Amino acid sequence: MGERIKFEVDGGLGIAVLSRPEKLNALDVKTRIELKEVLEQAEKSVRVLIITGSGRAFAAGADINELLQRDPVKALEATKLGTELFNRLEDLEIPVIAAINGYALGGGCELAMACDIRIASEKAKFGQPEINLAIIPGAGGTQRLPRLVGLGMAKRLVLTGEIIDARTALRIGLVDEVVEHDRLMEKAREIAGRILEKSPLAVKIAKKALNASMNMPLRDGIRYEASLFSLLFSSEDAKEGMRAFLEKRKPEFRGW
Ligand code: COA
Repeated sequence: MGERIKFEVDGGLGIAVLSRPEKLNALDVKTRIELKEVLEQAEKSVRVLIITGSGRAFAAGADINELLQRDPVKALEATKLGTELFNRLEDLEIPVIAAINGYALGGGCELAMACDIRIASEKAKFGQPEINLAIIPGAGGTQRLPRLVGLGMAKRLVLTGEIIDARTALRIGLVDEVVEHDRLMEKAREIAGRILEKSPLAVKIAKKALNASMNMPLRDGIRYEASLFSLLFSSEDAKEGMRAFLEKRKPEFRGW
């Protein structure tokens, strides 16, 4: 960790900055390995993580120099590293906010999609341009994109390799909010701050339940939600939250 990604901790908030601006933060193997380490560390040390990029890009995709060296066996190994990394990110026990400062292309767009909340600068640009290289997205792009924007729009983006701006990304549901470039981190921190006020346990369980909606049939998901919902009634935080409401004071959550 450190050469490709800067990671800093500010109270309960972790901020990971992809820091290879001269290559538009292209996600080479070294970056992926560092990102895995950052995720492990963040899960242990903070309660919300923001991921952003330095310079003009969030991340301009897989490193095309590395792609050219691959045969099918190496491609399978590499895509395993990428898909497992983004699955790990999606399953992380803490919420992750993508603060998308610029280009989020290919693996960069896939990285943003594996995060929980996506805030974009008005300068951000999105796309899955792999088709231009005669390949396809290989880190979840063909699966997460339709779940966010619908199958029709996902097909259009993946089949044409079209690059869209932040306003279009907002309109199709690829990002949750677009803000002035200079206000991006302020906005991401503001959202993180709101989550940090909540019970960490409830936040963790809420994320688990929401993620299940993407991986389970509806009725199974509803049953899973019911079991998680009832589990939370064993927590001190839930009692504290309800008491504080009735006593008209701010709750003091402890995370159990
Ligand atoms: N892999 C490796 N290097 C990359 C890269 C990538 N995905 N994206 C950008 N870079 C490098 C460029 O090669 C260039 O390096 P150099 O200065 O040593 O020549 C540097 O980053 C700056 O990029 P450049 O193309 O000069 O900037 P630009 O403003 O003209 O164009 C983009 C910006 C994002 C449109 C363009 O870089 C691009 O199309 N990148 C590839 C996106 C892509 O196909 N991603 C999916 C890969 S599967």
